[in-house]
Amino acid sequence: MTAPALPGHPHLAYQGAELCLEGQPLAALAQEYGTPLYVYSKAAMLQALAAYQCGFAGRQVQICYAMKANSSLAVLQLFARAGCGFDIVSGGELARVLAAGGDPAKVIFSGVGKTRAEMRQALQAGIGCFNVESEAELEVLNQVALELGLRAPVSIRVNPNVDAKTHPYISTGLKGNKFGIAHERTLATYQRAASLPGLRVVGIDCHIGSQITELAPYRDAIERVLDLVQAIEAAGITIEHLDFGGGLGITYHDEQPPAADALWTALLAQLDARGYGGRKIMIEPGRSLVGNAGVCLTEVLYLKPGEQKNFCIVDAAMNDLPRPAMYEAYHAIVPLQPRPEGVRCLYDVVGPVCESGDWLGRERHLAVQPGDKLAVLSTGAYCASMASNYNTRGRAAELLVDGAQTTLIRPRESAAQTFAHERLLP
Ligand code: LLP
Repeated sequence: MTAPALPGHPHLAYQGAELCLEGQPLAALAQEYGTPLYVYSKAAMLQALAAYQCGFAGRQVQICYAMKANSSLAVLQLFARAGCGFDIVSGGELARVLAAGGDPAKVIFSGVGKTRAEMRQALQAGIGCFNVESEAELEVLNQVALELGLRAPVSIRVNPNVDAKTHPYISTGLKGNKFGIAHERTLATYQRAASLPGLRVVGIDCHIGSQITELAPYRDAIERVLDLVQAIEAAGITIEHLDFGGGLGITYHDEQPPAADALWTALLAQLDARGYGGRKIMIEPGRSLVGNAGVCLTEVLYLKPGEQKNFCIVDAAMNDLPRPAMYEAYHAIVPLQPRPEGVRCLYDVVGPVCESGDWLGRERHLAVQPGDKLAVLSTGAYCASMASNYNTRGRAAELLVDGAQTTLIRPRESAAQTFAHERLLP
């Protein structure tokens, strides 16, 4: 009999007394590769992608994986092989896409601060589109393209001024945010773009935030973008593609975001109703493709009971899992081999880094002993890609599980590797 998967984690399940990912016991992987260790399920990533593909069946669509969510080469390779393009935000990300075998023609370049060097690199690679975020950037991109004798394909990122109802640090579509061009300036900016010889207008773009768990903000943004498309086309400028960004949330705790296929079935009906259903659509999902495909395994080092709090000190820390420290984010923490007879105590689960902000979970009921292994869930997105070497901690190893096959996609970084590029004084 197959064990039921943990809610929101299609390939993660307890089989007997063992937590398994795609049927592989995680404790054995922790034993073999050490901890902290990120483990990703290939099937979970492809299943998340398939939900989008299913919602878009029969339409013209390009899914551009927002690689900032998890930029490990093997993960990029997996999505490239599945037909995805990529949403990048730096020249470094472009280099990664190319190293992973991604198609530059399917790359879109977002971000408010592209440098001239990054623009040149992207133009020479032949990327699909620049999502331009300011009027000043438009002028610079025009100059750089003319210097190279090229025309840059552009889309203007509009700020639709809608509230994505998410954490303020990851909300991007409100007037006070640094992203995109204000709704009121959009038509004038398109007219300017269309007049510049180094540019070729190809699309329009918006992205209103991340970890969105409701349909309404998407609906509002789409209405506002379509109003703009109507006005821009009435001025004689053709918009080939409509890019609605990323942002769909996942279940970390008890959130119930819409499924990707249900979301897009509803949004495509809205596009159809306004006569835009036949346009080429682009989207830039990140978190929803990888977040719940990954876990981070960690070992309990010490239990430290206290008058006010009990601490469970583990070997993973804020440098490996920065989301709790940065956003007070919740990640479920579960044992790899539960102790049904053990006494459950209330713990703050914390790491070894010398900061009070170095916590992974607060007030968790756990029956654990030193040496036990835990899994921090929903850590496929914005964990390894945001990891640092703070406290000279080497980056954790990363594994990709594909049924019975396991691939070490990034070996653990040694202390020597963390300072290999530094120089001593003469
Ligand atoms: N497109 C653009 C232009 C973006 O800025 C982002 C994310 C995405 C797409 C992908 O959004 P997603 O589908 O992943 O929600 N570090 C934060 C999240 C930052 C998101 C930044 N932009 C976190 O850990 O929650």
